[in-house]
Amino acid sequence: MIIRISKITLISFLLFSCEPNLVDDPIPVVNFDDVVINLSFPAYINLNKEGGFKDISDLGGGVRGIIVYRLSPTAFVAYEKNCSYTPNEACSTVEVHSSGLFMIDPCCSSSFNFSDAMPTGGPAWRPLRKYRTQLNGNTLTITDEIID
Ligand code: FES
Repeated sequence: MIIRISKITLISFLLFSCEPNLVDDPIPVVNFDDVVINLSFPAYINLNKEGGFKDISDLGGGVRGIIVYRLSPTAFVAYEKNCSYTPNEACSTVEVHSSGLFMIDPCCSSSFNFSDAMPTGGPAWRPLRKYRTQLNGNTLTITDEIID
């Protein structure tokens, strides 16, 4: 009987030990005034090309700031910099990797791709939050509306 229980325990361990822990704190929600960017200003020159990005944390907005990425000539995404993994940790903040190819939280190395902010490495299992963007001519507006 003792051996039988041990076998069940072992099988359970093998079955479930590789499952990620999908329990985490929610990413905090904050309201903020619209962030408005004039894309013709030199500071935002990198956003004038497809695949360009800019950390606009100096303008306010978001819980820990925002990174904007240009997906296409007409589409931008605005990512919350608060890491989706243990977001309440003091160090839980994402930045653009020095390669410029993806985003990373140096705290415990969760990485996120630019196109949809899905995690590509590290302990994070949720994407980064996205805020609504509106393009009107050369003016890009980021609102506090959270989108999927
Ligand atoms: S807090 Fe983001 S990976 Fe650790």
